[in-house]
Amino acid sequence: MAIQRTQPDDTVSDDERAWWKEAVVYQVYPRSFNDSDGDGVGDLQGLVDRLDYVASLGVDVIWLNPVYDSPQEDNGYDISDYQAIYEEFGTMEDWETLLEEVHDRDMKLIMDLVVNHTSRDHEWFVESRQGNPEYEEYYIWREGDGDDLPNNWESFFGGSAWEYDEEREAYYLHLYDTSQPDLDWSNEDVRQDVFDTIEWWLEKGIDGFRMDVINLLSKVDGLPDGDPDSEWVGSEHFIDGPEMTEYLAAMDEQVLSNYDIMTVGEMPQLTVEEAREYADADGPLDMAFHFQHTKLDYDGDERWAVGEWDLTELKEIIGRWQNGLQDEGWNALYWENHDQPRVVSRYGDPVNYRRESAKLLGTFMLTLCGTPYIYQGQELGMTNAPWESMDEMRDVDAINHARELIESAGHESYEDVQDVVAYRSRDNARTPMQWDDAENAGFTDGDPWIQVNPNHDEVNVEAAEADDDSVLNYYRDLVDLRERKDVLVYGAYDDLLPDHESVYAYTRTMTENGDTEQVLVVLNFFDERPTVELPVEYDEATLLLSNYDRADDAPDTVSLAPYEARIYRLD
Ligand code: NOJ
Repeated sequence: MAIQRTQPDDTVSDDERAWWKEAVVYQVYPRSFNDSDGDGVGDLQGLVDRLDYVASLGVDVIWLNPVYDSPQEDNGYDISDYQAIYEEFGTMEDWETLLEEVHDRDMKLIMDLVVNHTSRDHEWFVESRQGNPEYEEYYIWREGDGDDLPNNWESFFGGSAWEYDEEREAYYLHLYDTSQPDLDWSNEDVRQDVFDTIEWWLEKGIDGFRMDVINLLSKVDGLPDGDPDSEWVGSEHFIDGPEMTEYLAAMDEQVLSNYDIMTVGEMPQLTVEEAREYADADGPLDMAFHFQHTKLDYDGDERWAVGEWDLTELKEIIGRWQNGLQDEGWNALYWENHDQPRVVSRYGDPVNYRRESAKLLGTFMLTLCGTPYIYQGQELGMTNAPWESMDEMRDVDAINHARELIESAGHESYEDVQDVVAYRSRDNARTPMQWDDAENAGFTDGDPWIQVNPNHDEVNVEAAEADDDSVLNYYRDLVDLRERKDVLVYGAYDDLLPDHESVYAYTRTMTENGDTEQVLVVLNFFDERPTVELPVEYDEATLLLSNYDRADDAPDTVSLAPYEARIYRLD
């Protein structure tokens, strides 16, 4: 047996294993998943009704987007009560039923932890703006008279990060919407209240947290002005701030380390070096979401402009993260979530090769080292929706930016900015799950809170179930393969063609107890028919999975069809 191997260490010991490394996660955005009571909004009972479907994918963990009480200015990322369920989603009893039903199916449930900010309606803020001494310092307030902003920081959703409050006659900081004031984490009472909340949920039996913008908690003392030319003005003073590791270590020590849970941090602007430090630090994070591969189709740094993307750049980013976290830390693998447009519409071909490119992109995500996160509908190959008018949009981020774009560029109307706004809007991820070809895609009997993608007559669960060759059934095969092959979870990654502009080929190699296993993945990312020579040595190659009907062949020279994906085992 001859196996090419360039990674210095592809061995895996028992210590390196963990259940959350071997898990596949499915993300549910409850507002858009399934509506059980006909009010047009998805709910907890709706999710319970569809749990058999989720389990049928073979996934191990459900990540549930925020279901806490909230005025829903940012669809639940503006929490007004951490210990209550938002009425339209159901009751605490429904939530308890959900947890039980998830556990009965041998799956786990992780919840969203949103503690950089609360809603303006949270009791802490209500008391704080009234100057109640107990809560006065719970948020980041600065004196002012409504004319001079405390500094030049920007909100991620556009405009200044400061809002003047008439009641307290001062400004408060909001790095997101004006309805989402930032908590002051330098206040020990804030930290203690948050830790108590975390513990309260863990005692209810949940299996972990996805931590919203968790590297934004610590702000630099004095809140100095930021570089006015940076992508997010002020971010050098509030991303990965000086007390970050201390706050996380305290959270871990006081609460998280007492439970066998998984945690994943959402960390804007995270680099691999920082990810290693967070993994190394005595912190609560098992892994983190970075954003580098989701910016390939920006125009430079500009999110609200669309640029051409480049496969070699994707390889460079993925290689950096795969190799950088090989010995320390762990990758969180994703293409989509509730903030990202549909991946087939970005890096695939939603018109001519929707099915093939959806499978190709899924193959990539599920054959890398890390924990994969499948976002609802990704397993169907759902695509971006048409957004013909601003009235159809629901996302505060897209609406604010559309208005800003129209004003700043001297445009007249939405039509002038439609191309970029429709492409980038987070609403693309939030159109209802497509269960069947009925009027509202089987999502609701009422009026859906957001439009259903018109392609649901073709792209839906019912049709996919009846089709052996569907994207859905291919995802099931991918998850199943990953669950059976440890090499796909733990194996070292080795890029075989770093400079090739359309074909991505890599091996995953793992040695355990002296036995080596190796898998080869070959992916053609475009509508081309390339033939590639691969620098692999092997005695036998067995085709494990492909999105085309292929027989085994010798993988040293491979001719690929558009968006073709193949996974081989090499012996
Ligand atoms: C990241 C969340 O994923 C996003 O949906 C939300 O708007 C912001 N954080 C603010 O909480």
